[in-house]
Amino acid sequence: MNYEILPNGLSVPKIGFGCWKIGGEHSADPSLDGWSLAALRSALELGYTHFDTAETYAKGHSEELTGQAVRESGIDRESLLITSKVTPAHLGYQSVLDACAGSLRRLQMDYLDIYLIHWPAPNMPLEDTFRAFNQLVEEEKVRHIGVSNFSVEQLQRSQALCATPIVTNQVPYSLGDRSYVKNGMLAYCQENDILLTAYSPVAQSGMKINPALGSIADAHGATVQQIALAWLVQQKRVITIPMSGNPKHQADNLAAAGIVLSEAEMQILG
Ligand SMILES: NC(=O)c1ccc[n+]([C@@H]2O[C@H](COP(=O)([O-])OP(=O)(O)OC[C@H]3O[C@@H](n4cnc5c(N)ncnc54)[C@H](OP(=O)(O)O)[C@@H]3O)[C@@H](O)[C@H]2O)c1
Repeated sequence: MNYEILPNGLSVPKIGFGCWKIGGEHSADPSLDGWSLAALRSALELGYTHFDTAETYAKGHSEELTGQAVRESGIDRESLLITSKVTPAHLGYQSVLDACAGSLRRLQMDYLDIYLIHWPAPNMPLEDTFRAFNQLVEEEKVRHIGVSNFSVEQLQRSQALCATPIVTNQVPYSLGDRSYVKNGMLAYCQENDILLTAYSPVAQSGMKINPALGSIADAHGATVQQIALAWLVQQKRVITIPMSGNPKHQADNLAAAGIVLSEAEMQILG
């Protein structure tokens, strides 16, 4: 597995596992528990080590099931990276502390590796948010801080308030969605040693954009989804977190980090 290693020593696999739809979507759906736990179990067995969840995913049930699958796997917590996110409704000082405590309780873990602001909000009280974030890092409940869906300006404000380096901005990025290239975010992350965590990397819409995708996939004996992931992670400071409940797709996605695209192929896709 290839990694991105930041100057502060944080090492994150290029390909991790997204936990949206684990346990439900906008509310908990216990009828999905069997499917969700099986998906997490096979991801852990295949060797995924970075899991991305959020307090809002299935109203916290995604965190509960992620924690349960990790405990049941017997895998050492220290060998995994767990990312979770605080919702924009909880950005006040005490609300952040409470939200983090809730995420840790549901995961049944002592710390989060990476804690993100899930979405920016109008008039967000970022001074208060980061006072709480900085405290959580000092108390060793959180190891690293990041943001999600932030603009360059919002990211810069966050960097000024965060006592530790902002390690990531998690944004949509795929063959079919270049909005965070066009707005300067990718270049800013690459110049400032910040991970751009690409979400929705294989979402169906992106697969049809480039007619050359199929022939590049054939040339590598790979699927178009694997080429879409390989294209992302071959870019400096880009990591990604595809979600799949299908063990074959999970294995394909993990293996995509090992596909080397030529300069010409990168340009055709880019
Ligand atoms: N920060 C944010 O605001 C935000 C927003 C959206 C998502 N995210 C994070 O990003 C993660 C991934 O994004 P996403 O779930 O929206 O989209 P995605 O991972 O791009 O796409 C998931 C879909 O693609 C299919 N798929 C995955 N790998 C495949 C493969 N190799 N071949 C064929 N189909 C494949 C899956 O179906 P199968 O199950 O059948 O494989 C599933 O339907 C989420 O789980 C979440 O953790 C964050």
